[in-house]
Amino acid sequence: MSHVPRRIALPDLAAAKQDQRRLSMVTAYDWPTAKLVDGAGIDCILVGDSVAMVVAGRESTIPATLEQMIYHGEIVVRASAHAMVVVDLPFPHQHLGVRSAVEACARILKETGCQGVKLEGTAGQADVIAGIVAAGIPVMGHVGLRPQAVHQLGGYRMQRDAERLMADSLAAADAGAFAVVLECVPQEVARTITAALPIPTFGIGAGPHCDGQVLVFHDLVGLSLERVPKFVRGYADSKTTIAAALGRWRQDVESRDFPGPAETRG
Ligand code: KIV
Repeated sequence: MSHVPRRIALPDLAAAKQDQRRLSMVTAYDWPTAKLVDGAGIDCILVGDSVAMVVAGRESTIPATLEQMIYHGEIVVRASAHAMVVVDLPFPHQHLGVRSAVEACARILKETGCQGVKLEGTAGQADVIAGIVAAGIPVMGHVGLRPQAVHQLGGYRMQRDAERLMADSLAAADAGAFAVVLECVPQEVARTITAALPIPTFGIGAGPHCDGQVLVFHDLVGLSLERVPKFVRGYADSKTTIAAALGRWRQDVESRDFPGPAETRG
């Protein structure tokens, strides 16, 4: 009998919080990356709207569209077998009312096969989260630095209003979110929120006290061509490795060393 690997599901995340097992989440947008992330045993794959920046070279995540998120989400779900796949709700669907948000999330769920959606929001979006959850769609909240609100927040900067961060996180949990991303918040605030919430927190630039950590794949493996945030630890220097390989290949082509007998048929 063939073994079909079971995906990480909501009860696994809840159990991890209970057992104090640290959770991992990494972004992926394409087939080979999703296969690598899944194969590494990472708990969750986030098809982030960061695709607009790291893949499409845009200046913010705001240009990411619903069609693009569905396109990338479907690829990542097909390429993975173990991780829970969460797809970002792109701007501005969570601000267009409950019905519109449910429609957009339902499309994401139906057309990608993912297990949940993530949406950026404050306590003001609690009714939207509740509406999506009531439709049977798992929601991950995202508070603190909300990149879709970068212009309103005055840049990609630390969010320090502890009371507001707690209120936004509690509102997401009370509305039925299954987890919350805390982006760029002081570590002590992240610790307090993580202790107060019954659901797991995933930190990014939020220190070591969250229930899990999330990073953008390109930052983690050293593939980001633009500025890398200070909270990233580079686990590989893929940019240098790839640039060197390309340079060697070009030289081999120019010197007629490539293709050689081993790469030539007939
Ligand atoms: O879009 C994204 O990659 C994200 C992470 C930074 C959490 O939201």
